[in-house]
Amino acid sequence: MTQPTQPANTPSKTTQPERIRIFDTTLRDGEQSPGVALNHSQKLEIAHQLARMGVDVIEAGFPIASPGDLEGVSRIAREVRGPIIAGLARAGRADIEAAAKAVELAEHPRIHTFIATSPIHMAKKLNLDPDAVVERAVQAVRLARSFVDDVEFSAEDATRSEWPFLVRIFKAVVEAGATTINVPDTVGYTTPREMRELFAFLKAELPAHVILSSHCHDDLGLAVANSVAAAEGGARQIECTVNGIGERAGNASLEEIVMAFHTRADAYPFTTGIRTRELYRASRLVSRLSGMPVQPNKAIVGDNAFAHESGIHQDGVIKARETYEIMNAELVGREAAVLVMGKHSGRAAFRKALTDLGYAEMSDERVKSLFARFKDLADRKGQIYADDLRALVDSRSDIP
Ligand code: KIV
Ligand code: ZN
Repeated sequence: MTQPTQPANTPSKTTQPERIRIFDTTLRDGEQSPGVALNHSQKLEIAHQLARMGVDVIEAGFPIASPGDLEGVSRIAREVRGPIIAGLARAGRADIEAAAKAVELAEHPRIHTFIATSPIHMAKKLNLDPDAVVERAVQAVRLARSFVDDVEFSAEDATRSEWPFLVRIFKAVVEAGATTINVPDTVGYTTPREMRELFAFLKAELPAHVILSSHCHDDLGLAVANSVAAAEGGARQIECTVNGIGERAGNASLEEIVMAFHTRADAYPFTTGIRTRELYRASRLVSRLSGMPVQPNKAIVGDNAFAHESGIHQDGVIKARETYEIMNAELVGREAAVLVMGKHSGRAAFRKALTDLGYAEMSDERVKSLFARFKDLADRKGQIYADDLRALVDSRSDIP
């Protein structure tokens, strides 16, 4: 029999993993989720958790947006140690001065400035011709560099921009002092293949010291796939948010990207500095403070992400967890996987649930008669909880 061929992008065993910087924008793009408004102490609490989790960059806010935003960023800059603290600024003097003021007391300050580069944004939104856009971008980066050494430049709507124009503006801002070049998929329009090719193209065009960065939105549900593809093309910073919150359909989800690299290290030669056991705690905190619930079937952090319902799956995980688990719940800071008791559950899971509740000594015959009653109950009730099981056993209604 012929063996399947190895996929082209599978790294060889000797490839040294490359470090991907995780740039968290929960407090800036994430806070742009409709209906979300975090106060200073909530932002600070999230920022401390992001630092504990090991993110490389915290984008703490958009200081020009309001005096409150400026103060929020500056508190994080003063109090959170470890990560780079970034403030966002449009390519204009007032924005950049506000960002500079907000991050001035950070241990590692960064100004992140941006301007749109797609034909539609330049013509309809900015009403500027491409030469004027390049000029503004260069002036903005020069001004930002007069305040800090670490300047990031983003070409808003980059994935709908012309590639030669991206090269032109990126070379100009790198010359002016930008060290990180971010390529946002602002409207969530691109595909993994396009993203991989765009980053490979930019990497070949730009000086080697430049860090290329991706920033993906999830309008087509491709934000994580596009971020991972960007890394394959040469991105060494990924911008993302906890729980994937953000404008419209949200941003690329931090926990999904990190766990994809971690779990499929055989396919992706990348590492991050994230302490994965802090992921669940970060997710719960952001959900609670932002008021945005996490969908139950969300990968990694959803309620059902490590729950098994069907009898076949439950029997499998009782015998060996790896049968239906590609990562352990504990690795992301959760309790071990749960067997959800319902009408699809099998006898093995039922017996295990009884044993876990302290009914270990039960005869096979009693388990059999209780199991029939349990199935009737599950048909009527849906999910069966520990108290239902205790009532079933203690009522002795199955004993004639
Ligand atoms: O989506 C986007 O283009 C942005 C930029 C400001 C980086 O959020
Ligand atoms: Zn964005």
